[in-house]
Amino acid sequence: MKIRQTFLLILVSSLGSLALEDLKQKTLVFPEASNTAHVILRPVRQQPLTNFTVCLRSYTDLSRGHSLFSYATRKAYNELLVYKHKPNQYSLYVGGSMVTFSIADNPVPKPLWEHICVSWESVTGIAELWLNGVSLPRKGMKRGYTIGPEASIVLGQEQDSFGGGFDINESFTGEISDVFMWDRVLSSQEVVSVRYGDRLSNYLIDWQSLNYEIKGYVVVKPSTFSSS
Ligand SMILES: *[C@@H]1O[C@H](CO)[C@@H](O)[C@H](O)[C@H]1NC(C)=O
Ligand SMILES: *[C@@H]1O[C@H](CO)[C@@H](O)[C@H](O)[C@H]1NC(C)=O
Repeated sequence: MKIRQTFLLILVSSLGSLALEDLKQKTLVFPEASNTAHVILRPVRQQPLTNFTVCLRSYTDLSRGHSLFSYATRKAYNELLVYKHKPNQYSLYVGGSMVTFSIADNPVPKPLWEHICVSWESVTGIAELWLNGVSLPRKGMKRGYTIGPEASIVLGQEQDSFGGGFDINESFTGEISDVFMWDRVLSSQEVVSVRYGDRLSNYLIDWQSLNYEIKGYVVVKPSTFSSS
C-alpha cells in the first residue's frame, strides 16, 4: 500500500504541468489591472474547429472593454475571442471577424455574476450568445471558415500576438469561473443545464478537470457565486 502510494506520487509529480485540477466551486480572482497577469488554459486535445461552444461565469465592476476568453493562433490573434466592450455589449470574434450582441441597459444596476455561453458553426456561420441562459438575437459571420487547432488560450488578457501582446486597458479584473469548451454547438436546454452546474460530456476545456497555468497576480479562491 505504502509503495503504491509512493509510486502514484512520483507518477503524479512527473506529469508536472499535465496535472488536472478540479476547480468546482472555485474562482480565479484577477485582483488588479496589469498587462501581465493571466491564466493559460490547455485544451484536452487540439483540433481544427468548425463548431464550438464556450461557457464561463464572470464577475466584474469594469465599465471599460475587457477580454473574457482569448484563443489565438499564429495566423490570427483574434481567432476566437469573447470580448465585453462595456456593460451590456459583447462581441464574438472568429477568424478576425466580429459580431456584437447588445442588450438594453439593466434598469437597476446591481452586482451580478454573469453566465455567458457563445457558439458558432461554420456551415451556416451562425453565432449565438446566451446571457444568463437567454439567447440573444443570433448573428452570423465567417461561413465555411475553420478555426486553427494550435492555439494559445488565455484568460485575463487579450492577445495581440501568440501568447502575448497584452494591453492593460483590455485586461480583466474581477473573477472568472466555470470555464468550459466543446467542439459542438450546445442546445439552449444544454446551456441552461450548464448554467446550473450540470455535467455534459466531451469537453475540450473542463473546469472540473483543468490543465492550466497561472502567470502573475491571479489567485484561486472559493467561489462567492451561488445559483440560488
Ligand atoms: C458541425 O455542425 C454541423 C451542423 O450542426 C454538422 O453538420 C457538422 O457535422 C458538424 N461538424 C463537426 C466536425 O462536428
Ligand atoms: C490606458 O488608458 C489610459 C486612460 O485612458 C491611457 O492614459 C493609457 O495611455 C492607456 N495605456 C495603454 C497602454 O494604452
